[in-house]
Amino acid sequence: MSDFLKLPRWFDLHTHFRQGENVAAYIADHVAMGCAGALAMPNTQPPVSRIEGGLANDGWSIEGYRKTLNDAGATAFEKLIVPLYLTRETTADDIERGAKSGLLQACKYYPPHGTTNSEHGVPVEEWIGHDVLRAMEANDVMLCLHGEQHGLAGAEYFDAKATAESKFYAEWMPRLLEAHPNLKLVCEHITTKAAADFVTTAPSERVGATITPQHLLYTVGHLIQGLKYHLYCLPIVKFESDRDALRDTVLQAGQTQFFAGTDSAPHTTKATECGCAAGCYTGGCAPQLYAMAFEEAGADLFSEAGKAAFKRFLCTNGPAFYGFDASAETFTMSKTPSTTRTLAAEDGTVIPLPTGMDLELTWSLSV
Ligand code: NCD
Ligand code: ZN
Repeated sequence: MSDFLKLPRWFDLHTHFRQGENVAAYIADHVAMGCAGALAMPNTQPPVSRIEGGLANDGWSIEGYRKTLNDAGATAFEKLIVPLYLTRETTADDIERGAKSGLLQACKYYPPHGTTNSEHGVPVEEWIGHDVLRAMEANDVMLCLHGEQHGLAGAEYFDAKATAESKFYAEWMPRLLEAHPNLKLVCEHITTKAAADFVTTAPSERVGATITPQHLLYTVGHLIQGLKYHLYCLPIVKFESDRDALRDTVLQAGQTQFFAGTDSAPHTTKATECGCAAGCYTGGCAPQLYAMAFEEAGADLFSEAGKAAFKRFLCTNGPAFYGFDASAETFTMSKTPSTTRTLAAEDGTVIPLPTGMDLELTWSLSV
């Protein structure tokens, strides 16, 4: 039996490259892990909230942010998607113009104040039936959602019976689907059984989902046992029943709806006096973490079925759902241990997630 996997280069359909001096280092970490392309999130400061033009005080444009990323090394990718951050200023005309010019493939819904740099988000209830979403339907523009109910008090935000995510999926997602019958949705970084069930019962050509390595590997117990703040991200890791549901969905033979989106989110200052930045950095180690998660879920990645499930999730489902080709290039993963490294950035150090988690990477990559 061989101890390596040869796979098509994979796609990270939800990641954060930020802005400024560190962008090149973040992109280099992605390229070095066999990543063929990325969907780079628009929660920069200011946000990517316009289609064309340079950086202005009121926001980046997709055109300007793409150029910044390309100048910092993203030309090594086969595909680079920058979604438009939906704000109160977004218009149906922006959507139509953006789609026609080819710059716009997706828009991003942020729950207001729900996560890092999400203060420009507009509540979901205001989008249902909105012209902007109608224009997205008409122009085949995907809606990427951070699916958490916003504005909840602590006790309602996270509880064994319901969380901000399960509430959002129960209350808003069915209404969105019904009000916009031609809209395609990506449920991003899902963490709960409620979200996984919603996706699997929705029409497979309309609803897809990304899952991060941390949500397949860990539960809230791992986070609070020693307060492992490098594992703190939003939506927060959940219960074992949730993790089991996510693991089951990615192992379903032939599934087409679930795919990789690491949500790798570099923060140079993670813990402060008054709280903790949300986001786990998995640059350099995401495929290894995904492989370990699949194994913990019971897959043998050297069996035909195990390899097929892993390849679908990491390399082919995402491109197919977004409507572009999987990579014709390959990279290799070997069952030999490797180590993570911290990333020295301009204004601090970015610590990758496995730090402090007592986890040795049992896989390594060659690209
Ligand atoms: C992300 C970030 O840091 O930009 N953080 C996170 O916890 N995932 C934002 C986001 O995707 O919620
Ligand atoms: Zn994110």
